[in-house]
Amino acid sequence: MLVLGFESSCDETGVAMVETQGTGVPVLLSHALYSQIEMHQAFGGVVPELASRDHIRRVLPLTQEVLAGAGKSLQEVDVVAFTRGPGLAGALLVGAGVACAMAAALGKPVLGVHHLEGHLLSPFLSADPPEFPFVALLVSGGHTQLMRVDGVGRYELLGETIDDAAGEAFDKSAKLMGLAYPGGPLLARMAEKGNPKAYALPRPLLHSGNLDFSFAGLKTAVLVQSQKMVAAAGVPTFEALPEQARWDLAASTQAAIVDVLVKKSLTALKNSGLSRLVVAGGVGANRELRAQLNAECAKRKVRVHYPEMHLCTDNGAMIAMAAAMRLQSGLQQATQSYAFDVKPR
Ligand code: KG4
Ligand code: ZN
Repeated sequence: MLVLGFESSCDETGVAMVETQGTGVPVLLSHALYSQIEMHQAFGGVVPELASRDHIRRVLPLTQEVLAGAGKSLQEVDVVAFTRGPGLAGALLVGAGVACAMAAALGKPVLGVHHLEGHLLSPFLSADPPEFPFVALLVSGGHTQLMRVDGVGRYELLGETIDDAAGEAFDKSAKLMGLAYPGGPLLARMAEKGNPKAYALPRPLLHSGNLDFSFAGLKTAVLVQSQKMVAAAGVPTFEALPEQARWDLAASTQAAIVDVLVKKSLTALKNSGLSRLVVAGGVGANRELRAQLNAECAKRKVRVHYPEMHLCTDNGAMIAMAAAMRLQSGLQQATQSYAFDVKPR
């Protein structure tokens, strides 16, 4: 079965083709991705209307690229999948509209997929896919969740953020440091040269006894700390501070976020008695998070699985994969009802 998948929930247009093979893990045949980040950078964040319009511009050329890459024709596609939500309503409507129109024209069924399920199952696209059951740490720009995963569609939420997501904490702190949107990867790069112990920043809910997260207070603490540094140095802005001071604050910020993510993941593993951890979502690309999880999990004989680096952030491959796995598990049927809707929240 050939599944063509579309992702358009935010600022990345992704298209991919996955093939199911019996009961084995489906195989990625081809995928193409266009990131709008540069276009939004001038505005310091994603502009929804611009995002929708750009998805329209990119989606068909990307589809042609994917078909050529897979060596398949559109007529060979068995199911068309798309991200149904969560995300920006207008952006989601582009992917949903294209997917349903294409499926209707081909007389093939469609399937709407939850964006987070795409992230969650994205490690199955790697050469070394995980086995169920596992604990999942889902860390994206919009979500921070710990889950127990017993199989496709069998998800138990163990804890989540009560305010900002981990990616948001990275991005908002980076913005305070004068970095471009999305600042997470840029802050991480600065942090490589800094001292993570230079500034004591809060680790909210670290000892709360549950698996919930809170990152809103960290952003405030970073703001206060940066203002202190600027005043003490007698410079006009944070960017005017000596390099080392800026690197140190970046490293301290990253350490605070990573520390909480690692400790809570270890608690979730301990409580569940499971010995496999899957990390997914954009923040899963963070090298410090990976290094610390690898070290701590090795001590506990826990195996950690990540998506491949380039599939941590939004992409079409994870959507085609999630659709293929849902169909394969018999959990969901694709339908030939083309009256689509999207679920922004
Ligand atoms: O999963 P994703 O592409 O989009 C959502 O579904 O939200 O995640 C994007 C988030 C952004 O907040 C971005 O700053 C963050 O992932 N991110 C990183 C890194 N790469 C991406 N955060 C920290 N370190 C990174 N290397
Ligand atoms: Zn995402």
